[in-house]
Amino acid sequence: EALSRLVFYVNGSKVVEDTAQPEWTLLFYLRNQLRLTGTKLGCGEGGCGACTVMISRYDRTTETIMHYAVNACLTPICAVHGLAVTTVEGIGQPGDVEGQRKQHKRRLHAVQERLAKAHGSQCGFCTPGFVMSMYTLLRSNKTELPSMAEVEEGFQGNLCRCTGYRPILEGCRTLTRDGCCGGQANGNGCCMDPINQSNGDVVNGHANGNGETIQRPVSTTLTNPSDFEESYSENQEPIFPPALQLS
Ligand code: FES
Ligand code: FES
Repeated sequence: EALSRLVFYVNGSKVVEDTAQPEWTLLFYLRNQLRLTGTKLGCGEGGCGACTVMISRYDRTTETIMHYAVNACLTPICAVHGLAVTTVEGIGQPGDVEGQRKQHKRRLHAVQERLAKAHGSQCGFCTPGFVMSMYTLLRSNKTELPSMAEVEEGFQGNLCRCTGYRPILEGCRTLTRDGCCGGQANGNGCCMDPINQSNGDVVNGHANGNGETIQRPVSTTLTNPSDFEESYSENQEPIFPPALQLS
């Protein structure tokens, strides 16, 4: 390849760029050159995580493929030479309208579906970033699902101004090894609900203004696992571009 030529992959497709400008960021390139606008521009300075994408590279020393969640707004386009970029469009798409050919049916990824069904997306601006942080975590954990502690650490660079984070975490909990009780732990309650120590009832713990605690069942689950259609299996994920594995 010519020395000035930039070659990388985006969602499995090879990109060859001969006229890359050094000041272009990966975010600019994805949105303006490739028209992949699922990756969002929030702060533009590494603070919000709306621009999170997954970058994968082949480590020749360990002969393993490494995955990293990165802020595309901080990544110079010239730094992705020889790397594979995965954006939110690359992992799943909303399903096709009825009547379209079944064999080309597009589907949401399990991470996207669970975040949506757990009400983890309101205005939606932060959602692609959260999805890609969670997706990268799943791809990076080879032997077992991540723990909730790892999820919380993985979300350290993602901000959401709408949801208060609980629905996002609850949706992602179903893809962790910590799992969730599925609404069974406290009778009809959820494992997240507080318990009244005196009588064992599930309570919401709010005072009623007279100094008394209102003891009524709190809402149980934000998610219903039986609603989920997509399961997660690394075997179903796109492969790393073989051309980038040549030494
Ligand atoms: Fe906010 Fe990149 S746009 S971190
Ligand atoms: Fe609006 Fe997260 S859903 S910022």
